[in-house]
Amino acid sequence: MKAIIPIGGRGTRMRPVTFTANKHFIPVGNKPLIFYPVETIAQAGITEIAITYNPGQIDYAKEKLGDGSRWGVKFTFIEQPEPIGLANVVEVCEKWLRNDPFVYHLGDNIFVDGIADIVNYFEKEKPDGLVTMLHHAENKRMGVPYFDKNNRLIKYVEKPTQPPHDFAVPGLYFGNKNFFKAFKGKGRIRPSKRGELEIPSPYQWLIDHKFRVDVIEYTGVWLDPGKFNDWLETNQHLLDRMIVKRFESEPDTDSKIEGRVQIGLDCKITKSIIRGPVSIGDNVIIENSFIGPYTSIYDNCRITACHIENSVLMEAVLFKDLDKPVDSSIIGPHSEITGDDSQTYHQLFIGEMGKVSL
Ligand code: DAU
Repeated sequence: MKAIIPIGGRGTRMRPVTFTANKHFIPVGNKPLIFYPVETIAQAGITEIAITYNPGQIDYAKEKLGDGSRWGVKFTFIEQPEPIGLANVVEVCEKWLRNDPFVYHLGDNIFVDGIADIVNYFEKEKPDGLVTMLHHAENKRMGVPYFDKNNRLIKYVEKPTQPPHDFAVPGLYFGNKNFFKAFKGKGRIRPSKRGELEIPSPYQWLIDHKFRVDVIEYTGVWLDPGKFNDWLETNQHLLDRMIVKRFESEPDTDSKIEGRVQIGLDCKITKSIIRGPVSIGDNVIIENSFIGPYTSIYDNCRITACHIENSVLMEAVLFKDLDKPVDSSIIGPHSEITGDDSQTYHQLFIGEMGKVSL
């Protein structure tokens, strides 16, 4: 069995950060988002993974992901020429799959409790297709399964306006070689109104052509960091769940570290209070500051005389001399935020779609 993880798409929901960075490499829980799907697939015992990307994304992806050996897997990078839909992602992998069955794990979904049981179900039961479902209050913005009175899947619809229940299909799909029949011949699936080959379409095709498509409930925790607020919530959840007390460099004796705090290599923490859960990357300097719960600070950040909580700081952010606390914020890489008492005004240099609350 092989796996497919897409890192393409337009990244519109996380602008402005995604003007310069691919969404899948933005840290959450102080780790690039894409690492979670890769770990989940590797934990399920699958070693061959296709990473699909859109033009212009390959160099960065290869640099950040390598060949997969750090997870004990092998990556093959496959270009999806345009982000024209989630079904098209699988379609471009047909040759690479060589008739093998596959699991398709979206690159921006996190199945916190793993997927090994579902992989086992698919391998044992061998349906032609398998999708997962879970309860979700906002299933209008997701794929939704419809059942007949015998609980058989009869319809699978993308973002319906009036879902009949609160079940939704998250980004975890399975299929075998019959999946590709949906893309061929006269009765092949067509793009939706918004111009995309939607992921429910090949499954609907399988259902309509009497192939076996099963649905299995995912009862674990599922996270989907889509927009700004979801990103902060996902960060909170991951820090809560993953962070254990671990110091790879020691704070000075004037600092107070409370609760579960992870400190990376070569950090200098002086005269500061850090209250967990907090994750601090490598080569971070924190001086005369308070870092409160649910903050993740990526590598090479520098914080002097500030109070920061419930925030995500990406690579090499500089914070200095702020007189008010910073709360519930996401700060893009290499940003500089400094206070200056002698100035009677705010001086800002902000890119398109920046959001500032002073
Ligand atoms: O998160 C679960 C939902 O994901 C499902 O419930 C929906 O049925 C499914 O369509 C999908 O909805 P989204 O609107 O969230 O999909 P999005 O366009 O954000 O794309 C999901 C991932 O796939 C994201 O990592 C970007 C990537 N992608 C997307 C498209 C359309 C590609 O790599 N290529 C593409 O062509």
